[in-house]
Order: sequence, then C-alpha cells, then structure tokens
Amino acid sequence: MVKATAPGKIILFGEHAVVYGRPAIAVPLSEVRATAVVEPNRQQGVQLIAPDLGVKKNLAETGPNDALALAVRQVQFAAGLAQLPDISITVTSDIPIASGLGSGAAICAAIIRALAGYLGLAHLASSEWISSLTYEVEKIHHGTPSGIDNTVVTYERPVYFIRQQPDNLIETFDIARPLRLLVADTGVRSSTKDVVDDVRRSWQADRRRFERIFDACGEIAVAARAAIEMGDMVQIARLMSANQALLVDMTVSSPELNRLVAVSLNAGALGAKLSGAGRGGNMIALVNSEKEEAVHSALIGAGSRSVLRSVIG
Ligand code: MEV
Repeated sequence: MVKATAPGKIILFGEHAVVYGRPAIAVPLSEVRATAVVEPNRQQGVQLIAPDLGVKKNLAETGPNDALALAVRQVQFAAGLAQLPDISITVTSDIPIASGLGSGAAICAAIIRALAGYLGLAHLASSEWISSLTYEVEKIHHGTPSGIDNTVVTYERPVYFIRQQPDNLIETFDIARPLRLLVADTGVRSSTKDVVDDVRRSWQADRRRFERIFDACGEIAVAARAAIEMGDMVQIARLMSANQALLVDMTVSSPELNRLVAVSLNAGALGAKLSGAGRGGNMIALVNSEKEEAVHSALIGAGSRSVLRSVIG
C-alpha cells in the first residue's frame, strides 16, 4: 500500500492576471489536504474510488474528461507502461471543492505521487515531474490554467510564479513574519474554468483596459513579494485591498465575497481579498493575533460556510 497527500492552496496575489503572464504569489494551505491510497486489488484493472463523491468505477469505463482517470493515465503514459497492475486507488479530501482552494490540483497530485510510489517510479517522481503531469490534467480539464495551482500544491512552499515560455519562472521565497490568515468560504460554488473563460471574453472585448488591470496586478505581486520578505504587514494589507479592487474591476468578485471582505475589515482585519478564481469560493483576511477572534466571529456571523485558520511561514 502506498499513500500520498497534497495540500490545498491560497492565491495571495495575482489570480487571473497570472494566466496572462503577470507574476502571482501562492502559498500552500496545509490545514486541508487530499489523500490518495493505492493498494493491490483482486478485481481486474484499476478501481477508482472516491467515497466522499460516491464514486466507484473501473478505469476502463471512464470517459476522456474524467479527472481521476486522467491523472492515472498521465502516470501510465509518462512511465511508458503498456498495462497497470490490478489496484484500487482511493481518494479522500477535506479541501472544499469548487471554492478556489486548489482541490482539483491537490487530488490529482496526490494520485500521481501515490501511484508513482506504488509502481516504483521514485526516480521519476520529483516535485517538478508531479507538477507537470498535474498540469497536463488541469489543461485537459480546465482549458488554460496558468500552472500556479499544480506548482504550489506539489512543491508545498510559498511560490512566486510567472507563466512563461519555455519554462515557467518558479521561485520560492522567505516569509519574514508569519502571515496569520482566516480563509472564509462564501458557500457559493464556482467553476474556475467558467470564470477564467469569462475573463478571457472580457479581455478579448477590451484588451487595453484588461491589459492595464493585469499590469497593475503584476506590479502588486512584485511589491507584495518584497513586503512579505521584509515582514511589512501594513504594506501587505494595503496591497491586498488594492488587488481586491482590481478583481472587482475584472468582475470576478461577487456580492458574497464583497460582503465578507467588508465585514472582516470592519472587524479589524489588516487586509482582505478574494482568493482563487472568484465569483464565489473563498476570501482571505490578514489578521493579527489580537483581532483574530473578532474577525473570525464576524465572518461566521456574516454567514461564512466555514472559516479556516492558517499561519503561513
Ligand atoms: C485559480 O486558482 C487561479 C486562476 O488565476 C486560474 C489559473 O491561474 O489557472 C484564476
């Protein structure tokens, strides 16, 4: 039996603009994880089991867009294996789905890591290899992902990321002072693919305006990295609010997200913004320890489905 896990993720700065080659910053959300367990099985073929989703199926019966099956086939293809042994792959996750926390990428990375381990492919299974296979699945499944989600969930380190050719720029960096974050769920599910497609349509309709917005997001990400490396909380908070304003301009915020951002700031959060694709999903609030409880209560009082606590760095 081989087990592997991967964390959720938070985009701190630069979502959407990162798809268009601007820098962005993401950190792992290690408090929630996806887990994959690969075991020998008496039944023929590869059984894919996801108890939380009520899924139990044979790989041979899956269609071309099945994300779990795609993860398995990526490993099989990359390792050049004509056939896989008779196994079961059981996937569980406490990362909320369709809520901007990287659930899809984490599930996929956990499957790839566990299966590579089971098949004795440790020599292949670097973080870079797992991340690139996860990216292939995300591409088939999601269209035009930037690559930041698969990168942060496989490296499990804070990353400064630029989508570029021939290779993405991926830099890990130091966090001078821990970032105390509350991650609040609007309870509204949102498809990353749909929101990314919608932003693309808006960009096509008004390239000049959207290029300006993306440039401003990129400048914020650059400044935010410097502020995080210096531990300048006031500047980090200011940049979060500036990024949120640009996400509102992009039309990817929502009434629920705006409300939680406002509520957290009123309760004493230093800064707040949506995180991930938007239109639902999660927002993040940067807090200090004195105000953490007040902001937490305010977010719950304002109808957050859940509020996770995470200390980054
Ligand atoms: C999703 O977590 C982040 C987006 O920027 C999409 C992407 O980078 O692929 C919205």
